[in-house]
Amino acid sequence: MTSAHQGLSGLLDTEAIRKDFPLLDRVVHDGKKIVYLDSAATSQKPRQVLDALNEYYERHNANVHRGVYTVAEEATALYEGARDKVAAFINAPSRDEVIFTKNASESLNLVANMLGWADEPYRVDHETEIAITEMEHHSNIVPWQLLSQRTGAKLKWFGLTDDGRLDLSNIEEVITEKTKIVSFTLVSNLLGTINPVETIIRRAQEVGALVCIDASQAAPHMVLDVQALQADFVAFTGHKMVGPTGIGVLWGRQELLEDLPPFLGGGEMIETVSMHSSTYAPAPHKFEAGTPPIAQAVGLGAAVDYLSAIGMENIARHEHAITEYAVRRLQEVPDLRIIGPTTAEDRGAAISFTLGDIHPHDVGQVLDEEGIAVRVGHHCARPVCLRYGIPATTRASFYLYSTPGEVDALVAGLEHVRNFFG
Ligand code: ALA
Repeated sequence: MTSAHQGLSGLLDTEAIRKDFPLLDRVVHDGKKIVYLDSAATSQKPRQVLDALNEYYERHNANVHRGVYTVAEEATALYEGARDKVAAFINAPSRDEVIFTKNASESLNLVANMLGWADEPYRVDHETEIAITEMEHHSNIVPWQLLSQRTGAKLKWFGLTDDGRLDLSNIEEVITEKTKIVSFTLVSNLLGTINPVETIIRRAQEVGALVCIDASQAAPHMVLDVQALQADFVAFTGHKMVGPTGIGVLWGRQELLEDLPPFLGGGEMIETVSMHSSTYAPAPHKFEAGTPPIAQAVGLGAAVDYLSAIGMENIARHEHAITEYAVRRLQEVPDLRIIGPTTAEDRGAAISFTLGDIHPHDVGQVLDEEGIAVRVGHHCARPVCLRYGIPATTRASFYLYSTPGEVDALVAGLEHVRNFFG
């Protein structure tokens, strides 16, 4: 370690952890080992998850909930076992509250569609309102725009403060007696901000609105306890939490899932079907039409095992230390402006910035030549860029395998970018 790292506490044993992640050994340019700083887009996968996927396909592959033969029963047990693991990971009161989807976007679309097709008291219509925030990923904006266009419901949102936080000063105007649903992100994927969930939920509860939380950037990084959160729905995705792509989760309160209608129809989600009508299976199956992402769920189960063995508190502590260090070091780079909170308090490990007037795509390209992988663009949160009057940012994001040395490599890479562009 260089002296700049000294005093960092709470770090995980990344030397051991990194051995589990084959991709982190990749050499990308001129013998340069990858410095992977794009975990907010997708995390790398440990061998334990890759092995679980392989083992599933090699030994247990069959469709679920159908077969009476041994391998099919094994597949069903593995798929439903993954549901148990996810339920325990988020402290869900019941495994039946865990719906598997293909990603967080699908989970959020599912909530919007449940409410759009629901009867009273949940129904969203032209006399009601939907509340979101300007900080959302497109996946938590577009489904609500679609619902608003379809039903005539009014879409409202919280704005942002100059320092990258939610402006809740008009909370009573944004969340009113007409609000049916408040949907917001726990941690911003672009700004890194961790939002004041309790304040928003308290107001939503005052007016009897449902609350949906996008936990895509939270579930991988901190303890996610759905009972403590007190929301009605929580959505997240597997691929950002060392699991495979193609698997997402929607947790919902059981009585809501019993009352609300399904969105997709098909096999698996029914009780009986005649040519005139159908009745539906109980939740969660009511919301899982068709052959589900079986292998992906099994992989997510292995991911949950992996993260739990390390401990989410330990992962959060590690990321906090890395983030604190990164925020400090990045602010030493001339002309660098962090877009979002400039302290490690109440922020996650995704740090967006601009570098003078160098376009983020150029920053990303020069960093890539140094082996450093960051994301550039609007990060599927374009309204945030519009709010701050910038076309795009460069974003570095950290995870349990990130090291202070990688922060140093980023800072050195940015010096190189500055020199390159004069
Ligand atoms: N939502 C992902 C990101 O922020 C893709 O990069």
